[in-house]
Amino acid sequence: SLPNNATIIEVGPRDGLQNEGNLVSTENKLEFITALQNAGIQEMELTSFVSPKWVPQMADAKEIVAQTKKVGRQFVLTPNERGVTAALESGATSLAVFVGVSNTFNKKNINKTTAESMAALQPLIYDLKKQGIFVRACISTAFYCPFEGAIAPEATLSLCRQFVEWGVDELSVADTIGMATPKESYALFTQLVEAFPNVLMTAHFHDTRRMALANITAALQAGVTRFDSSAGGLGGCPFAPGATGNVATEDVVNMLHQMAIHTGIDLDLLCKAIEKIEPHVTNPVTTGMYTLYKNK
Ligand code: HMG
Ligand code: MG
Repeated sequence: SLPNNATIIEVGPRDGLQNEGNLVSTENKLEFITALQNAGIQEMELTSFVSPKWVPQMADAKEIVAQTKKVGRQFVLTPNERGVTAALESGATSLAVFVGVSNTFNKKNINKTTAESMAALQPLIYDLKKQGIFVRACISTAFYCPFEGAIAPEATLSLCRQFVEWGVDELSVADTIGMATPKESYALFTQLVEAFPNVLMTAHFHDTRRMALANITAALQAGVTRFDSSAGGLGGCPFAPGATGNVATEDVVNMLHQMAIHTGIDLDLLCKAIEKIEPHVTNPVTTGMYTLYKNK
């Protein structure tokens, strides 16, 4: 049976913009973030404290955190100790660490193997939990890797198990290049929900093959009630060839609302937030609900 409520974790300002070729000004990002908060977004990935050489768009992470109103949970991504230190200094209280199941993906994304990444993350997570920081672990290439192909569900489960043992609060399990099918979504999330009942379980779908809404429905049926999505369907990982944007928040919210699943998000105000960012990104937004809003 389907739940009465679901939570959207808006990743537009981070996943949505990290791959954007136009350098968006800090001011324009902050307007977008504020408009998203006004639409009722309670949890959001604001930015990431990564190397500006690797991801120039996120170079203003410090200002973004400092100037964002603290409502709900505002995540920042941190790849290493330097990122964690900078994030905490800027006042962040909810951190997201990230790693792929695939070795090749990790080498391309963070210049470490999976084992090296995990070895580096363990002491960081230990310290963060001692300080009472909320830790979200983002698991990339949980279904497919652009370099290694299909990923064994056991490999994803075992990586997740490590994080759960280290005390993370949330797992965000990602279909990085939008290749999973509803059958695979249902199967993996059923296993994850059953294996890790004491962490928040979140599904992160990219919409490369337009299967994300179907995958979300399958994950809902498997017991997941938290979904990462990006307003306007913006985004993609610069180090995952073929990854297009995340599933569009407005289309997810509409689908959930039509199924009587509450999100607390106002669809019209959400579309107004997209109107703020659309002029500053390369591609026009063509998602279902935004198109209807524009043609109203
Ligand atoms: P590296 O080159 O191996 O490391 O990069 P390094 O320690 O040699 O550092 C390189 C330079 O970056 C140095 O500067 C460092 O000081 C600096 P230089 O001395 O050359 O002037 N540096 C930093 N600067 C700011 N903040 C930091 C930081 N660390 C080092 N934290 C590194 C390793 C991890 C830094 C690099 O690979 C990196 O930044 N990668 C980020 C990749 C990224 O952001 N990917 C996208 C996010 S993940 C994603 O999108 C997937 C997700 O959505 C889920 C899904 O869909 O799958 C979450
Ligand atoms: Mg992503």
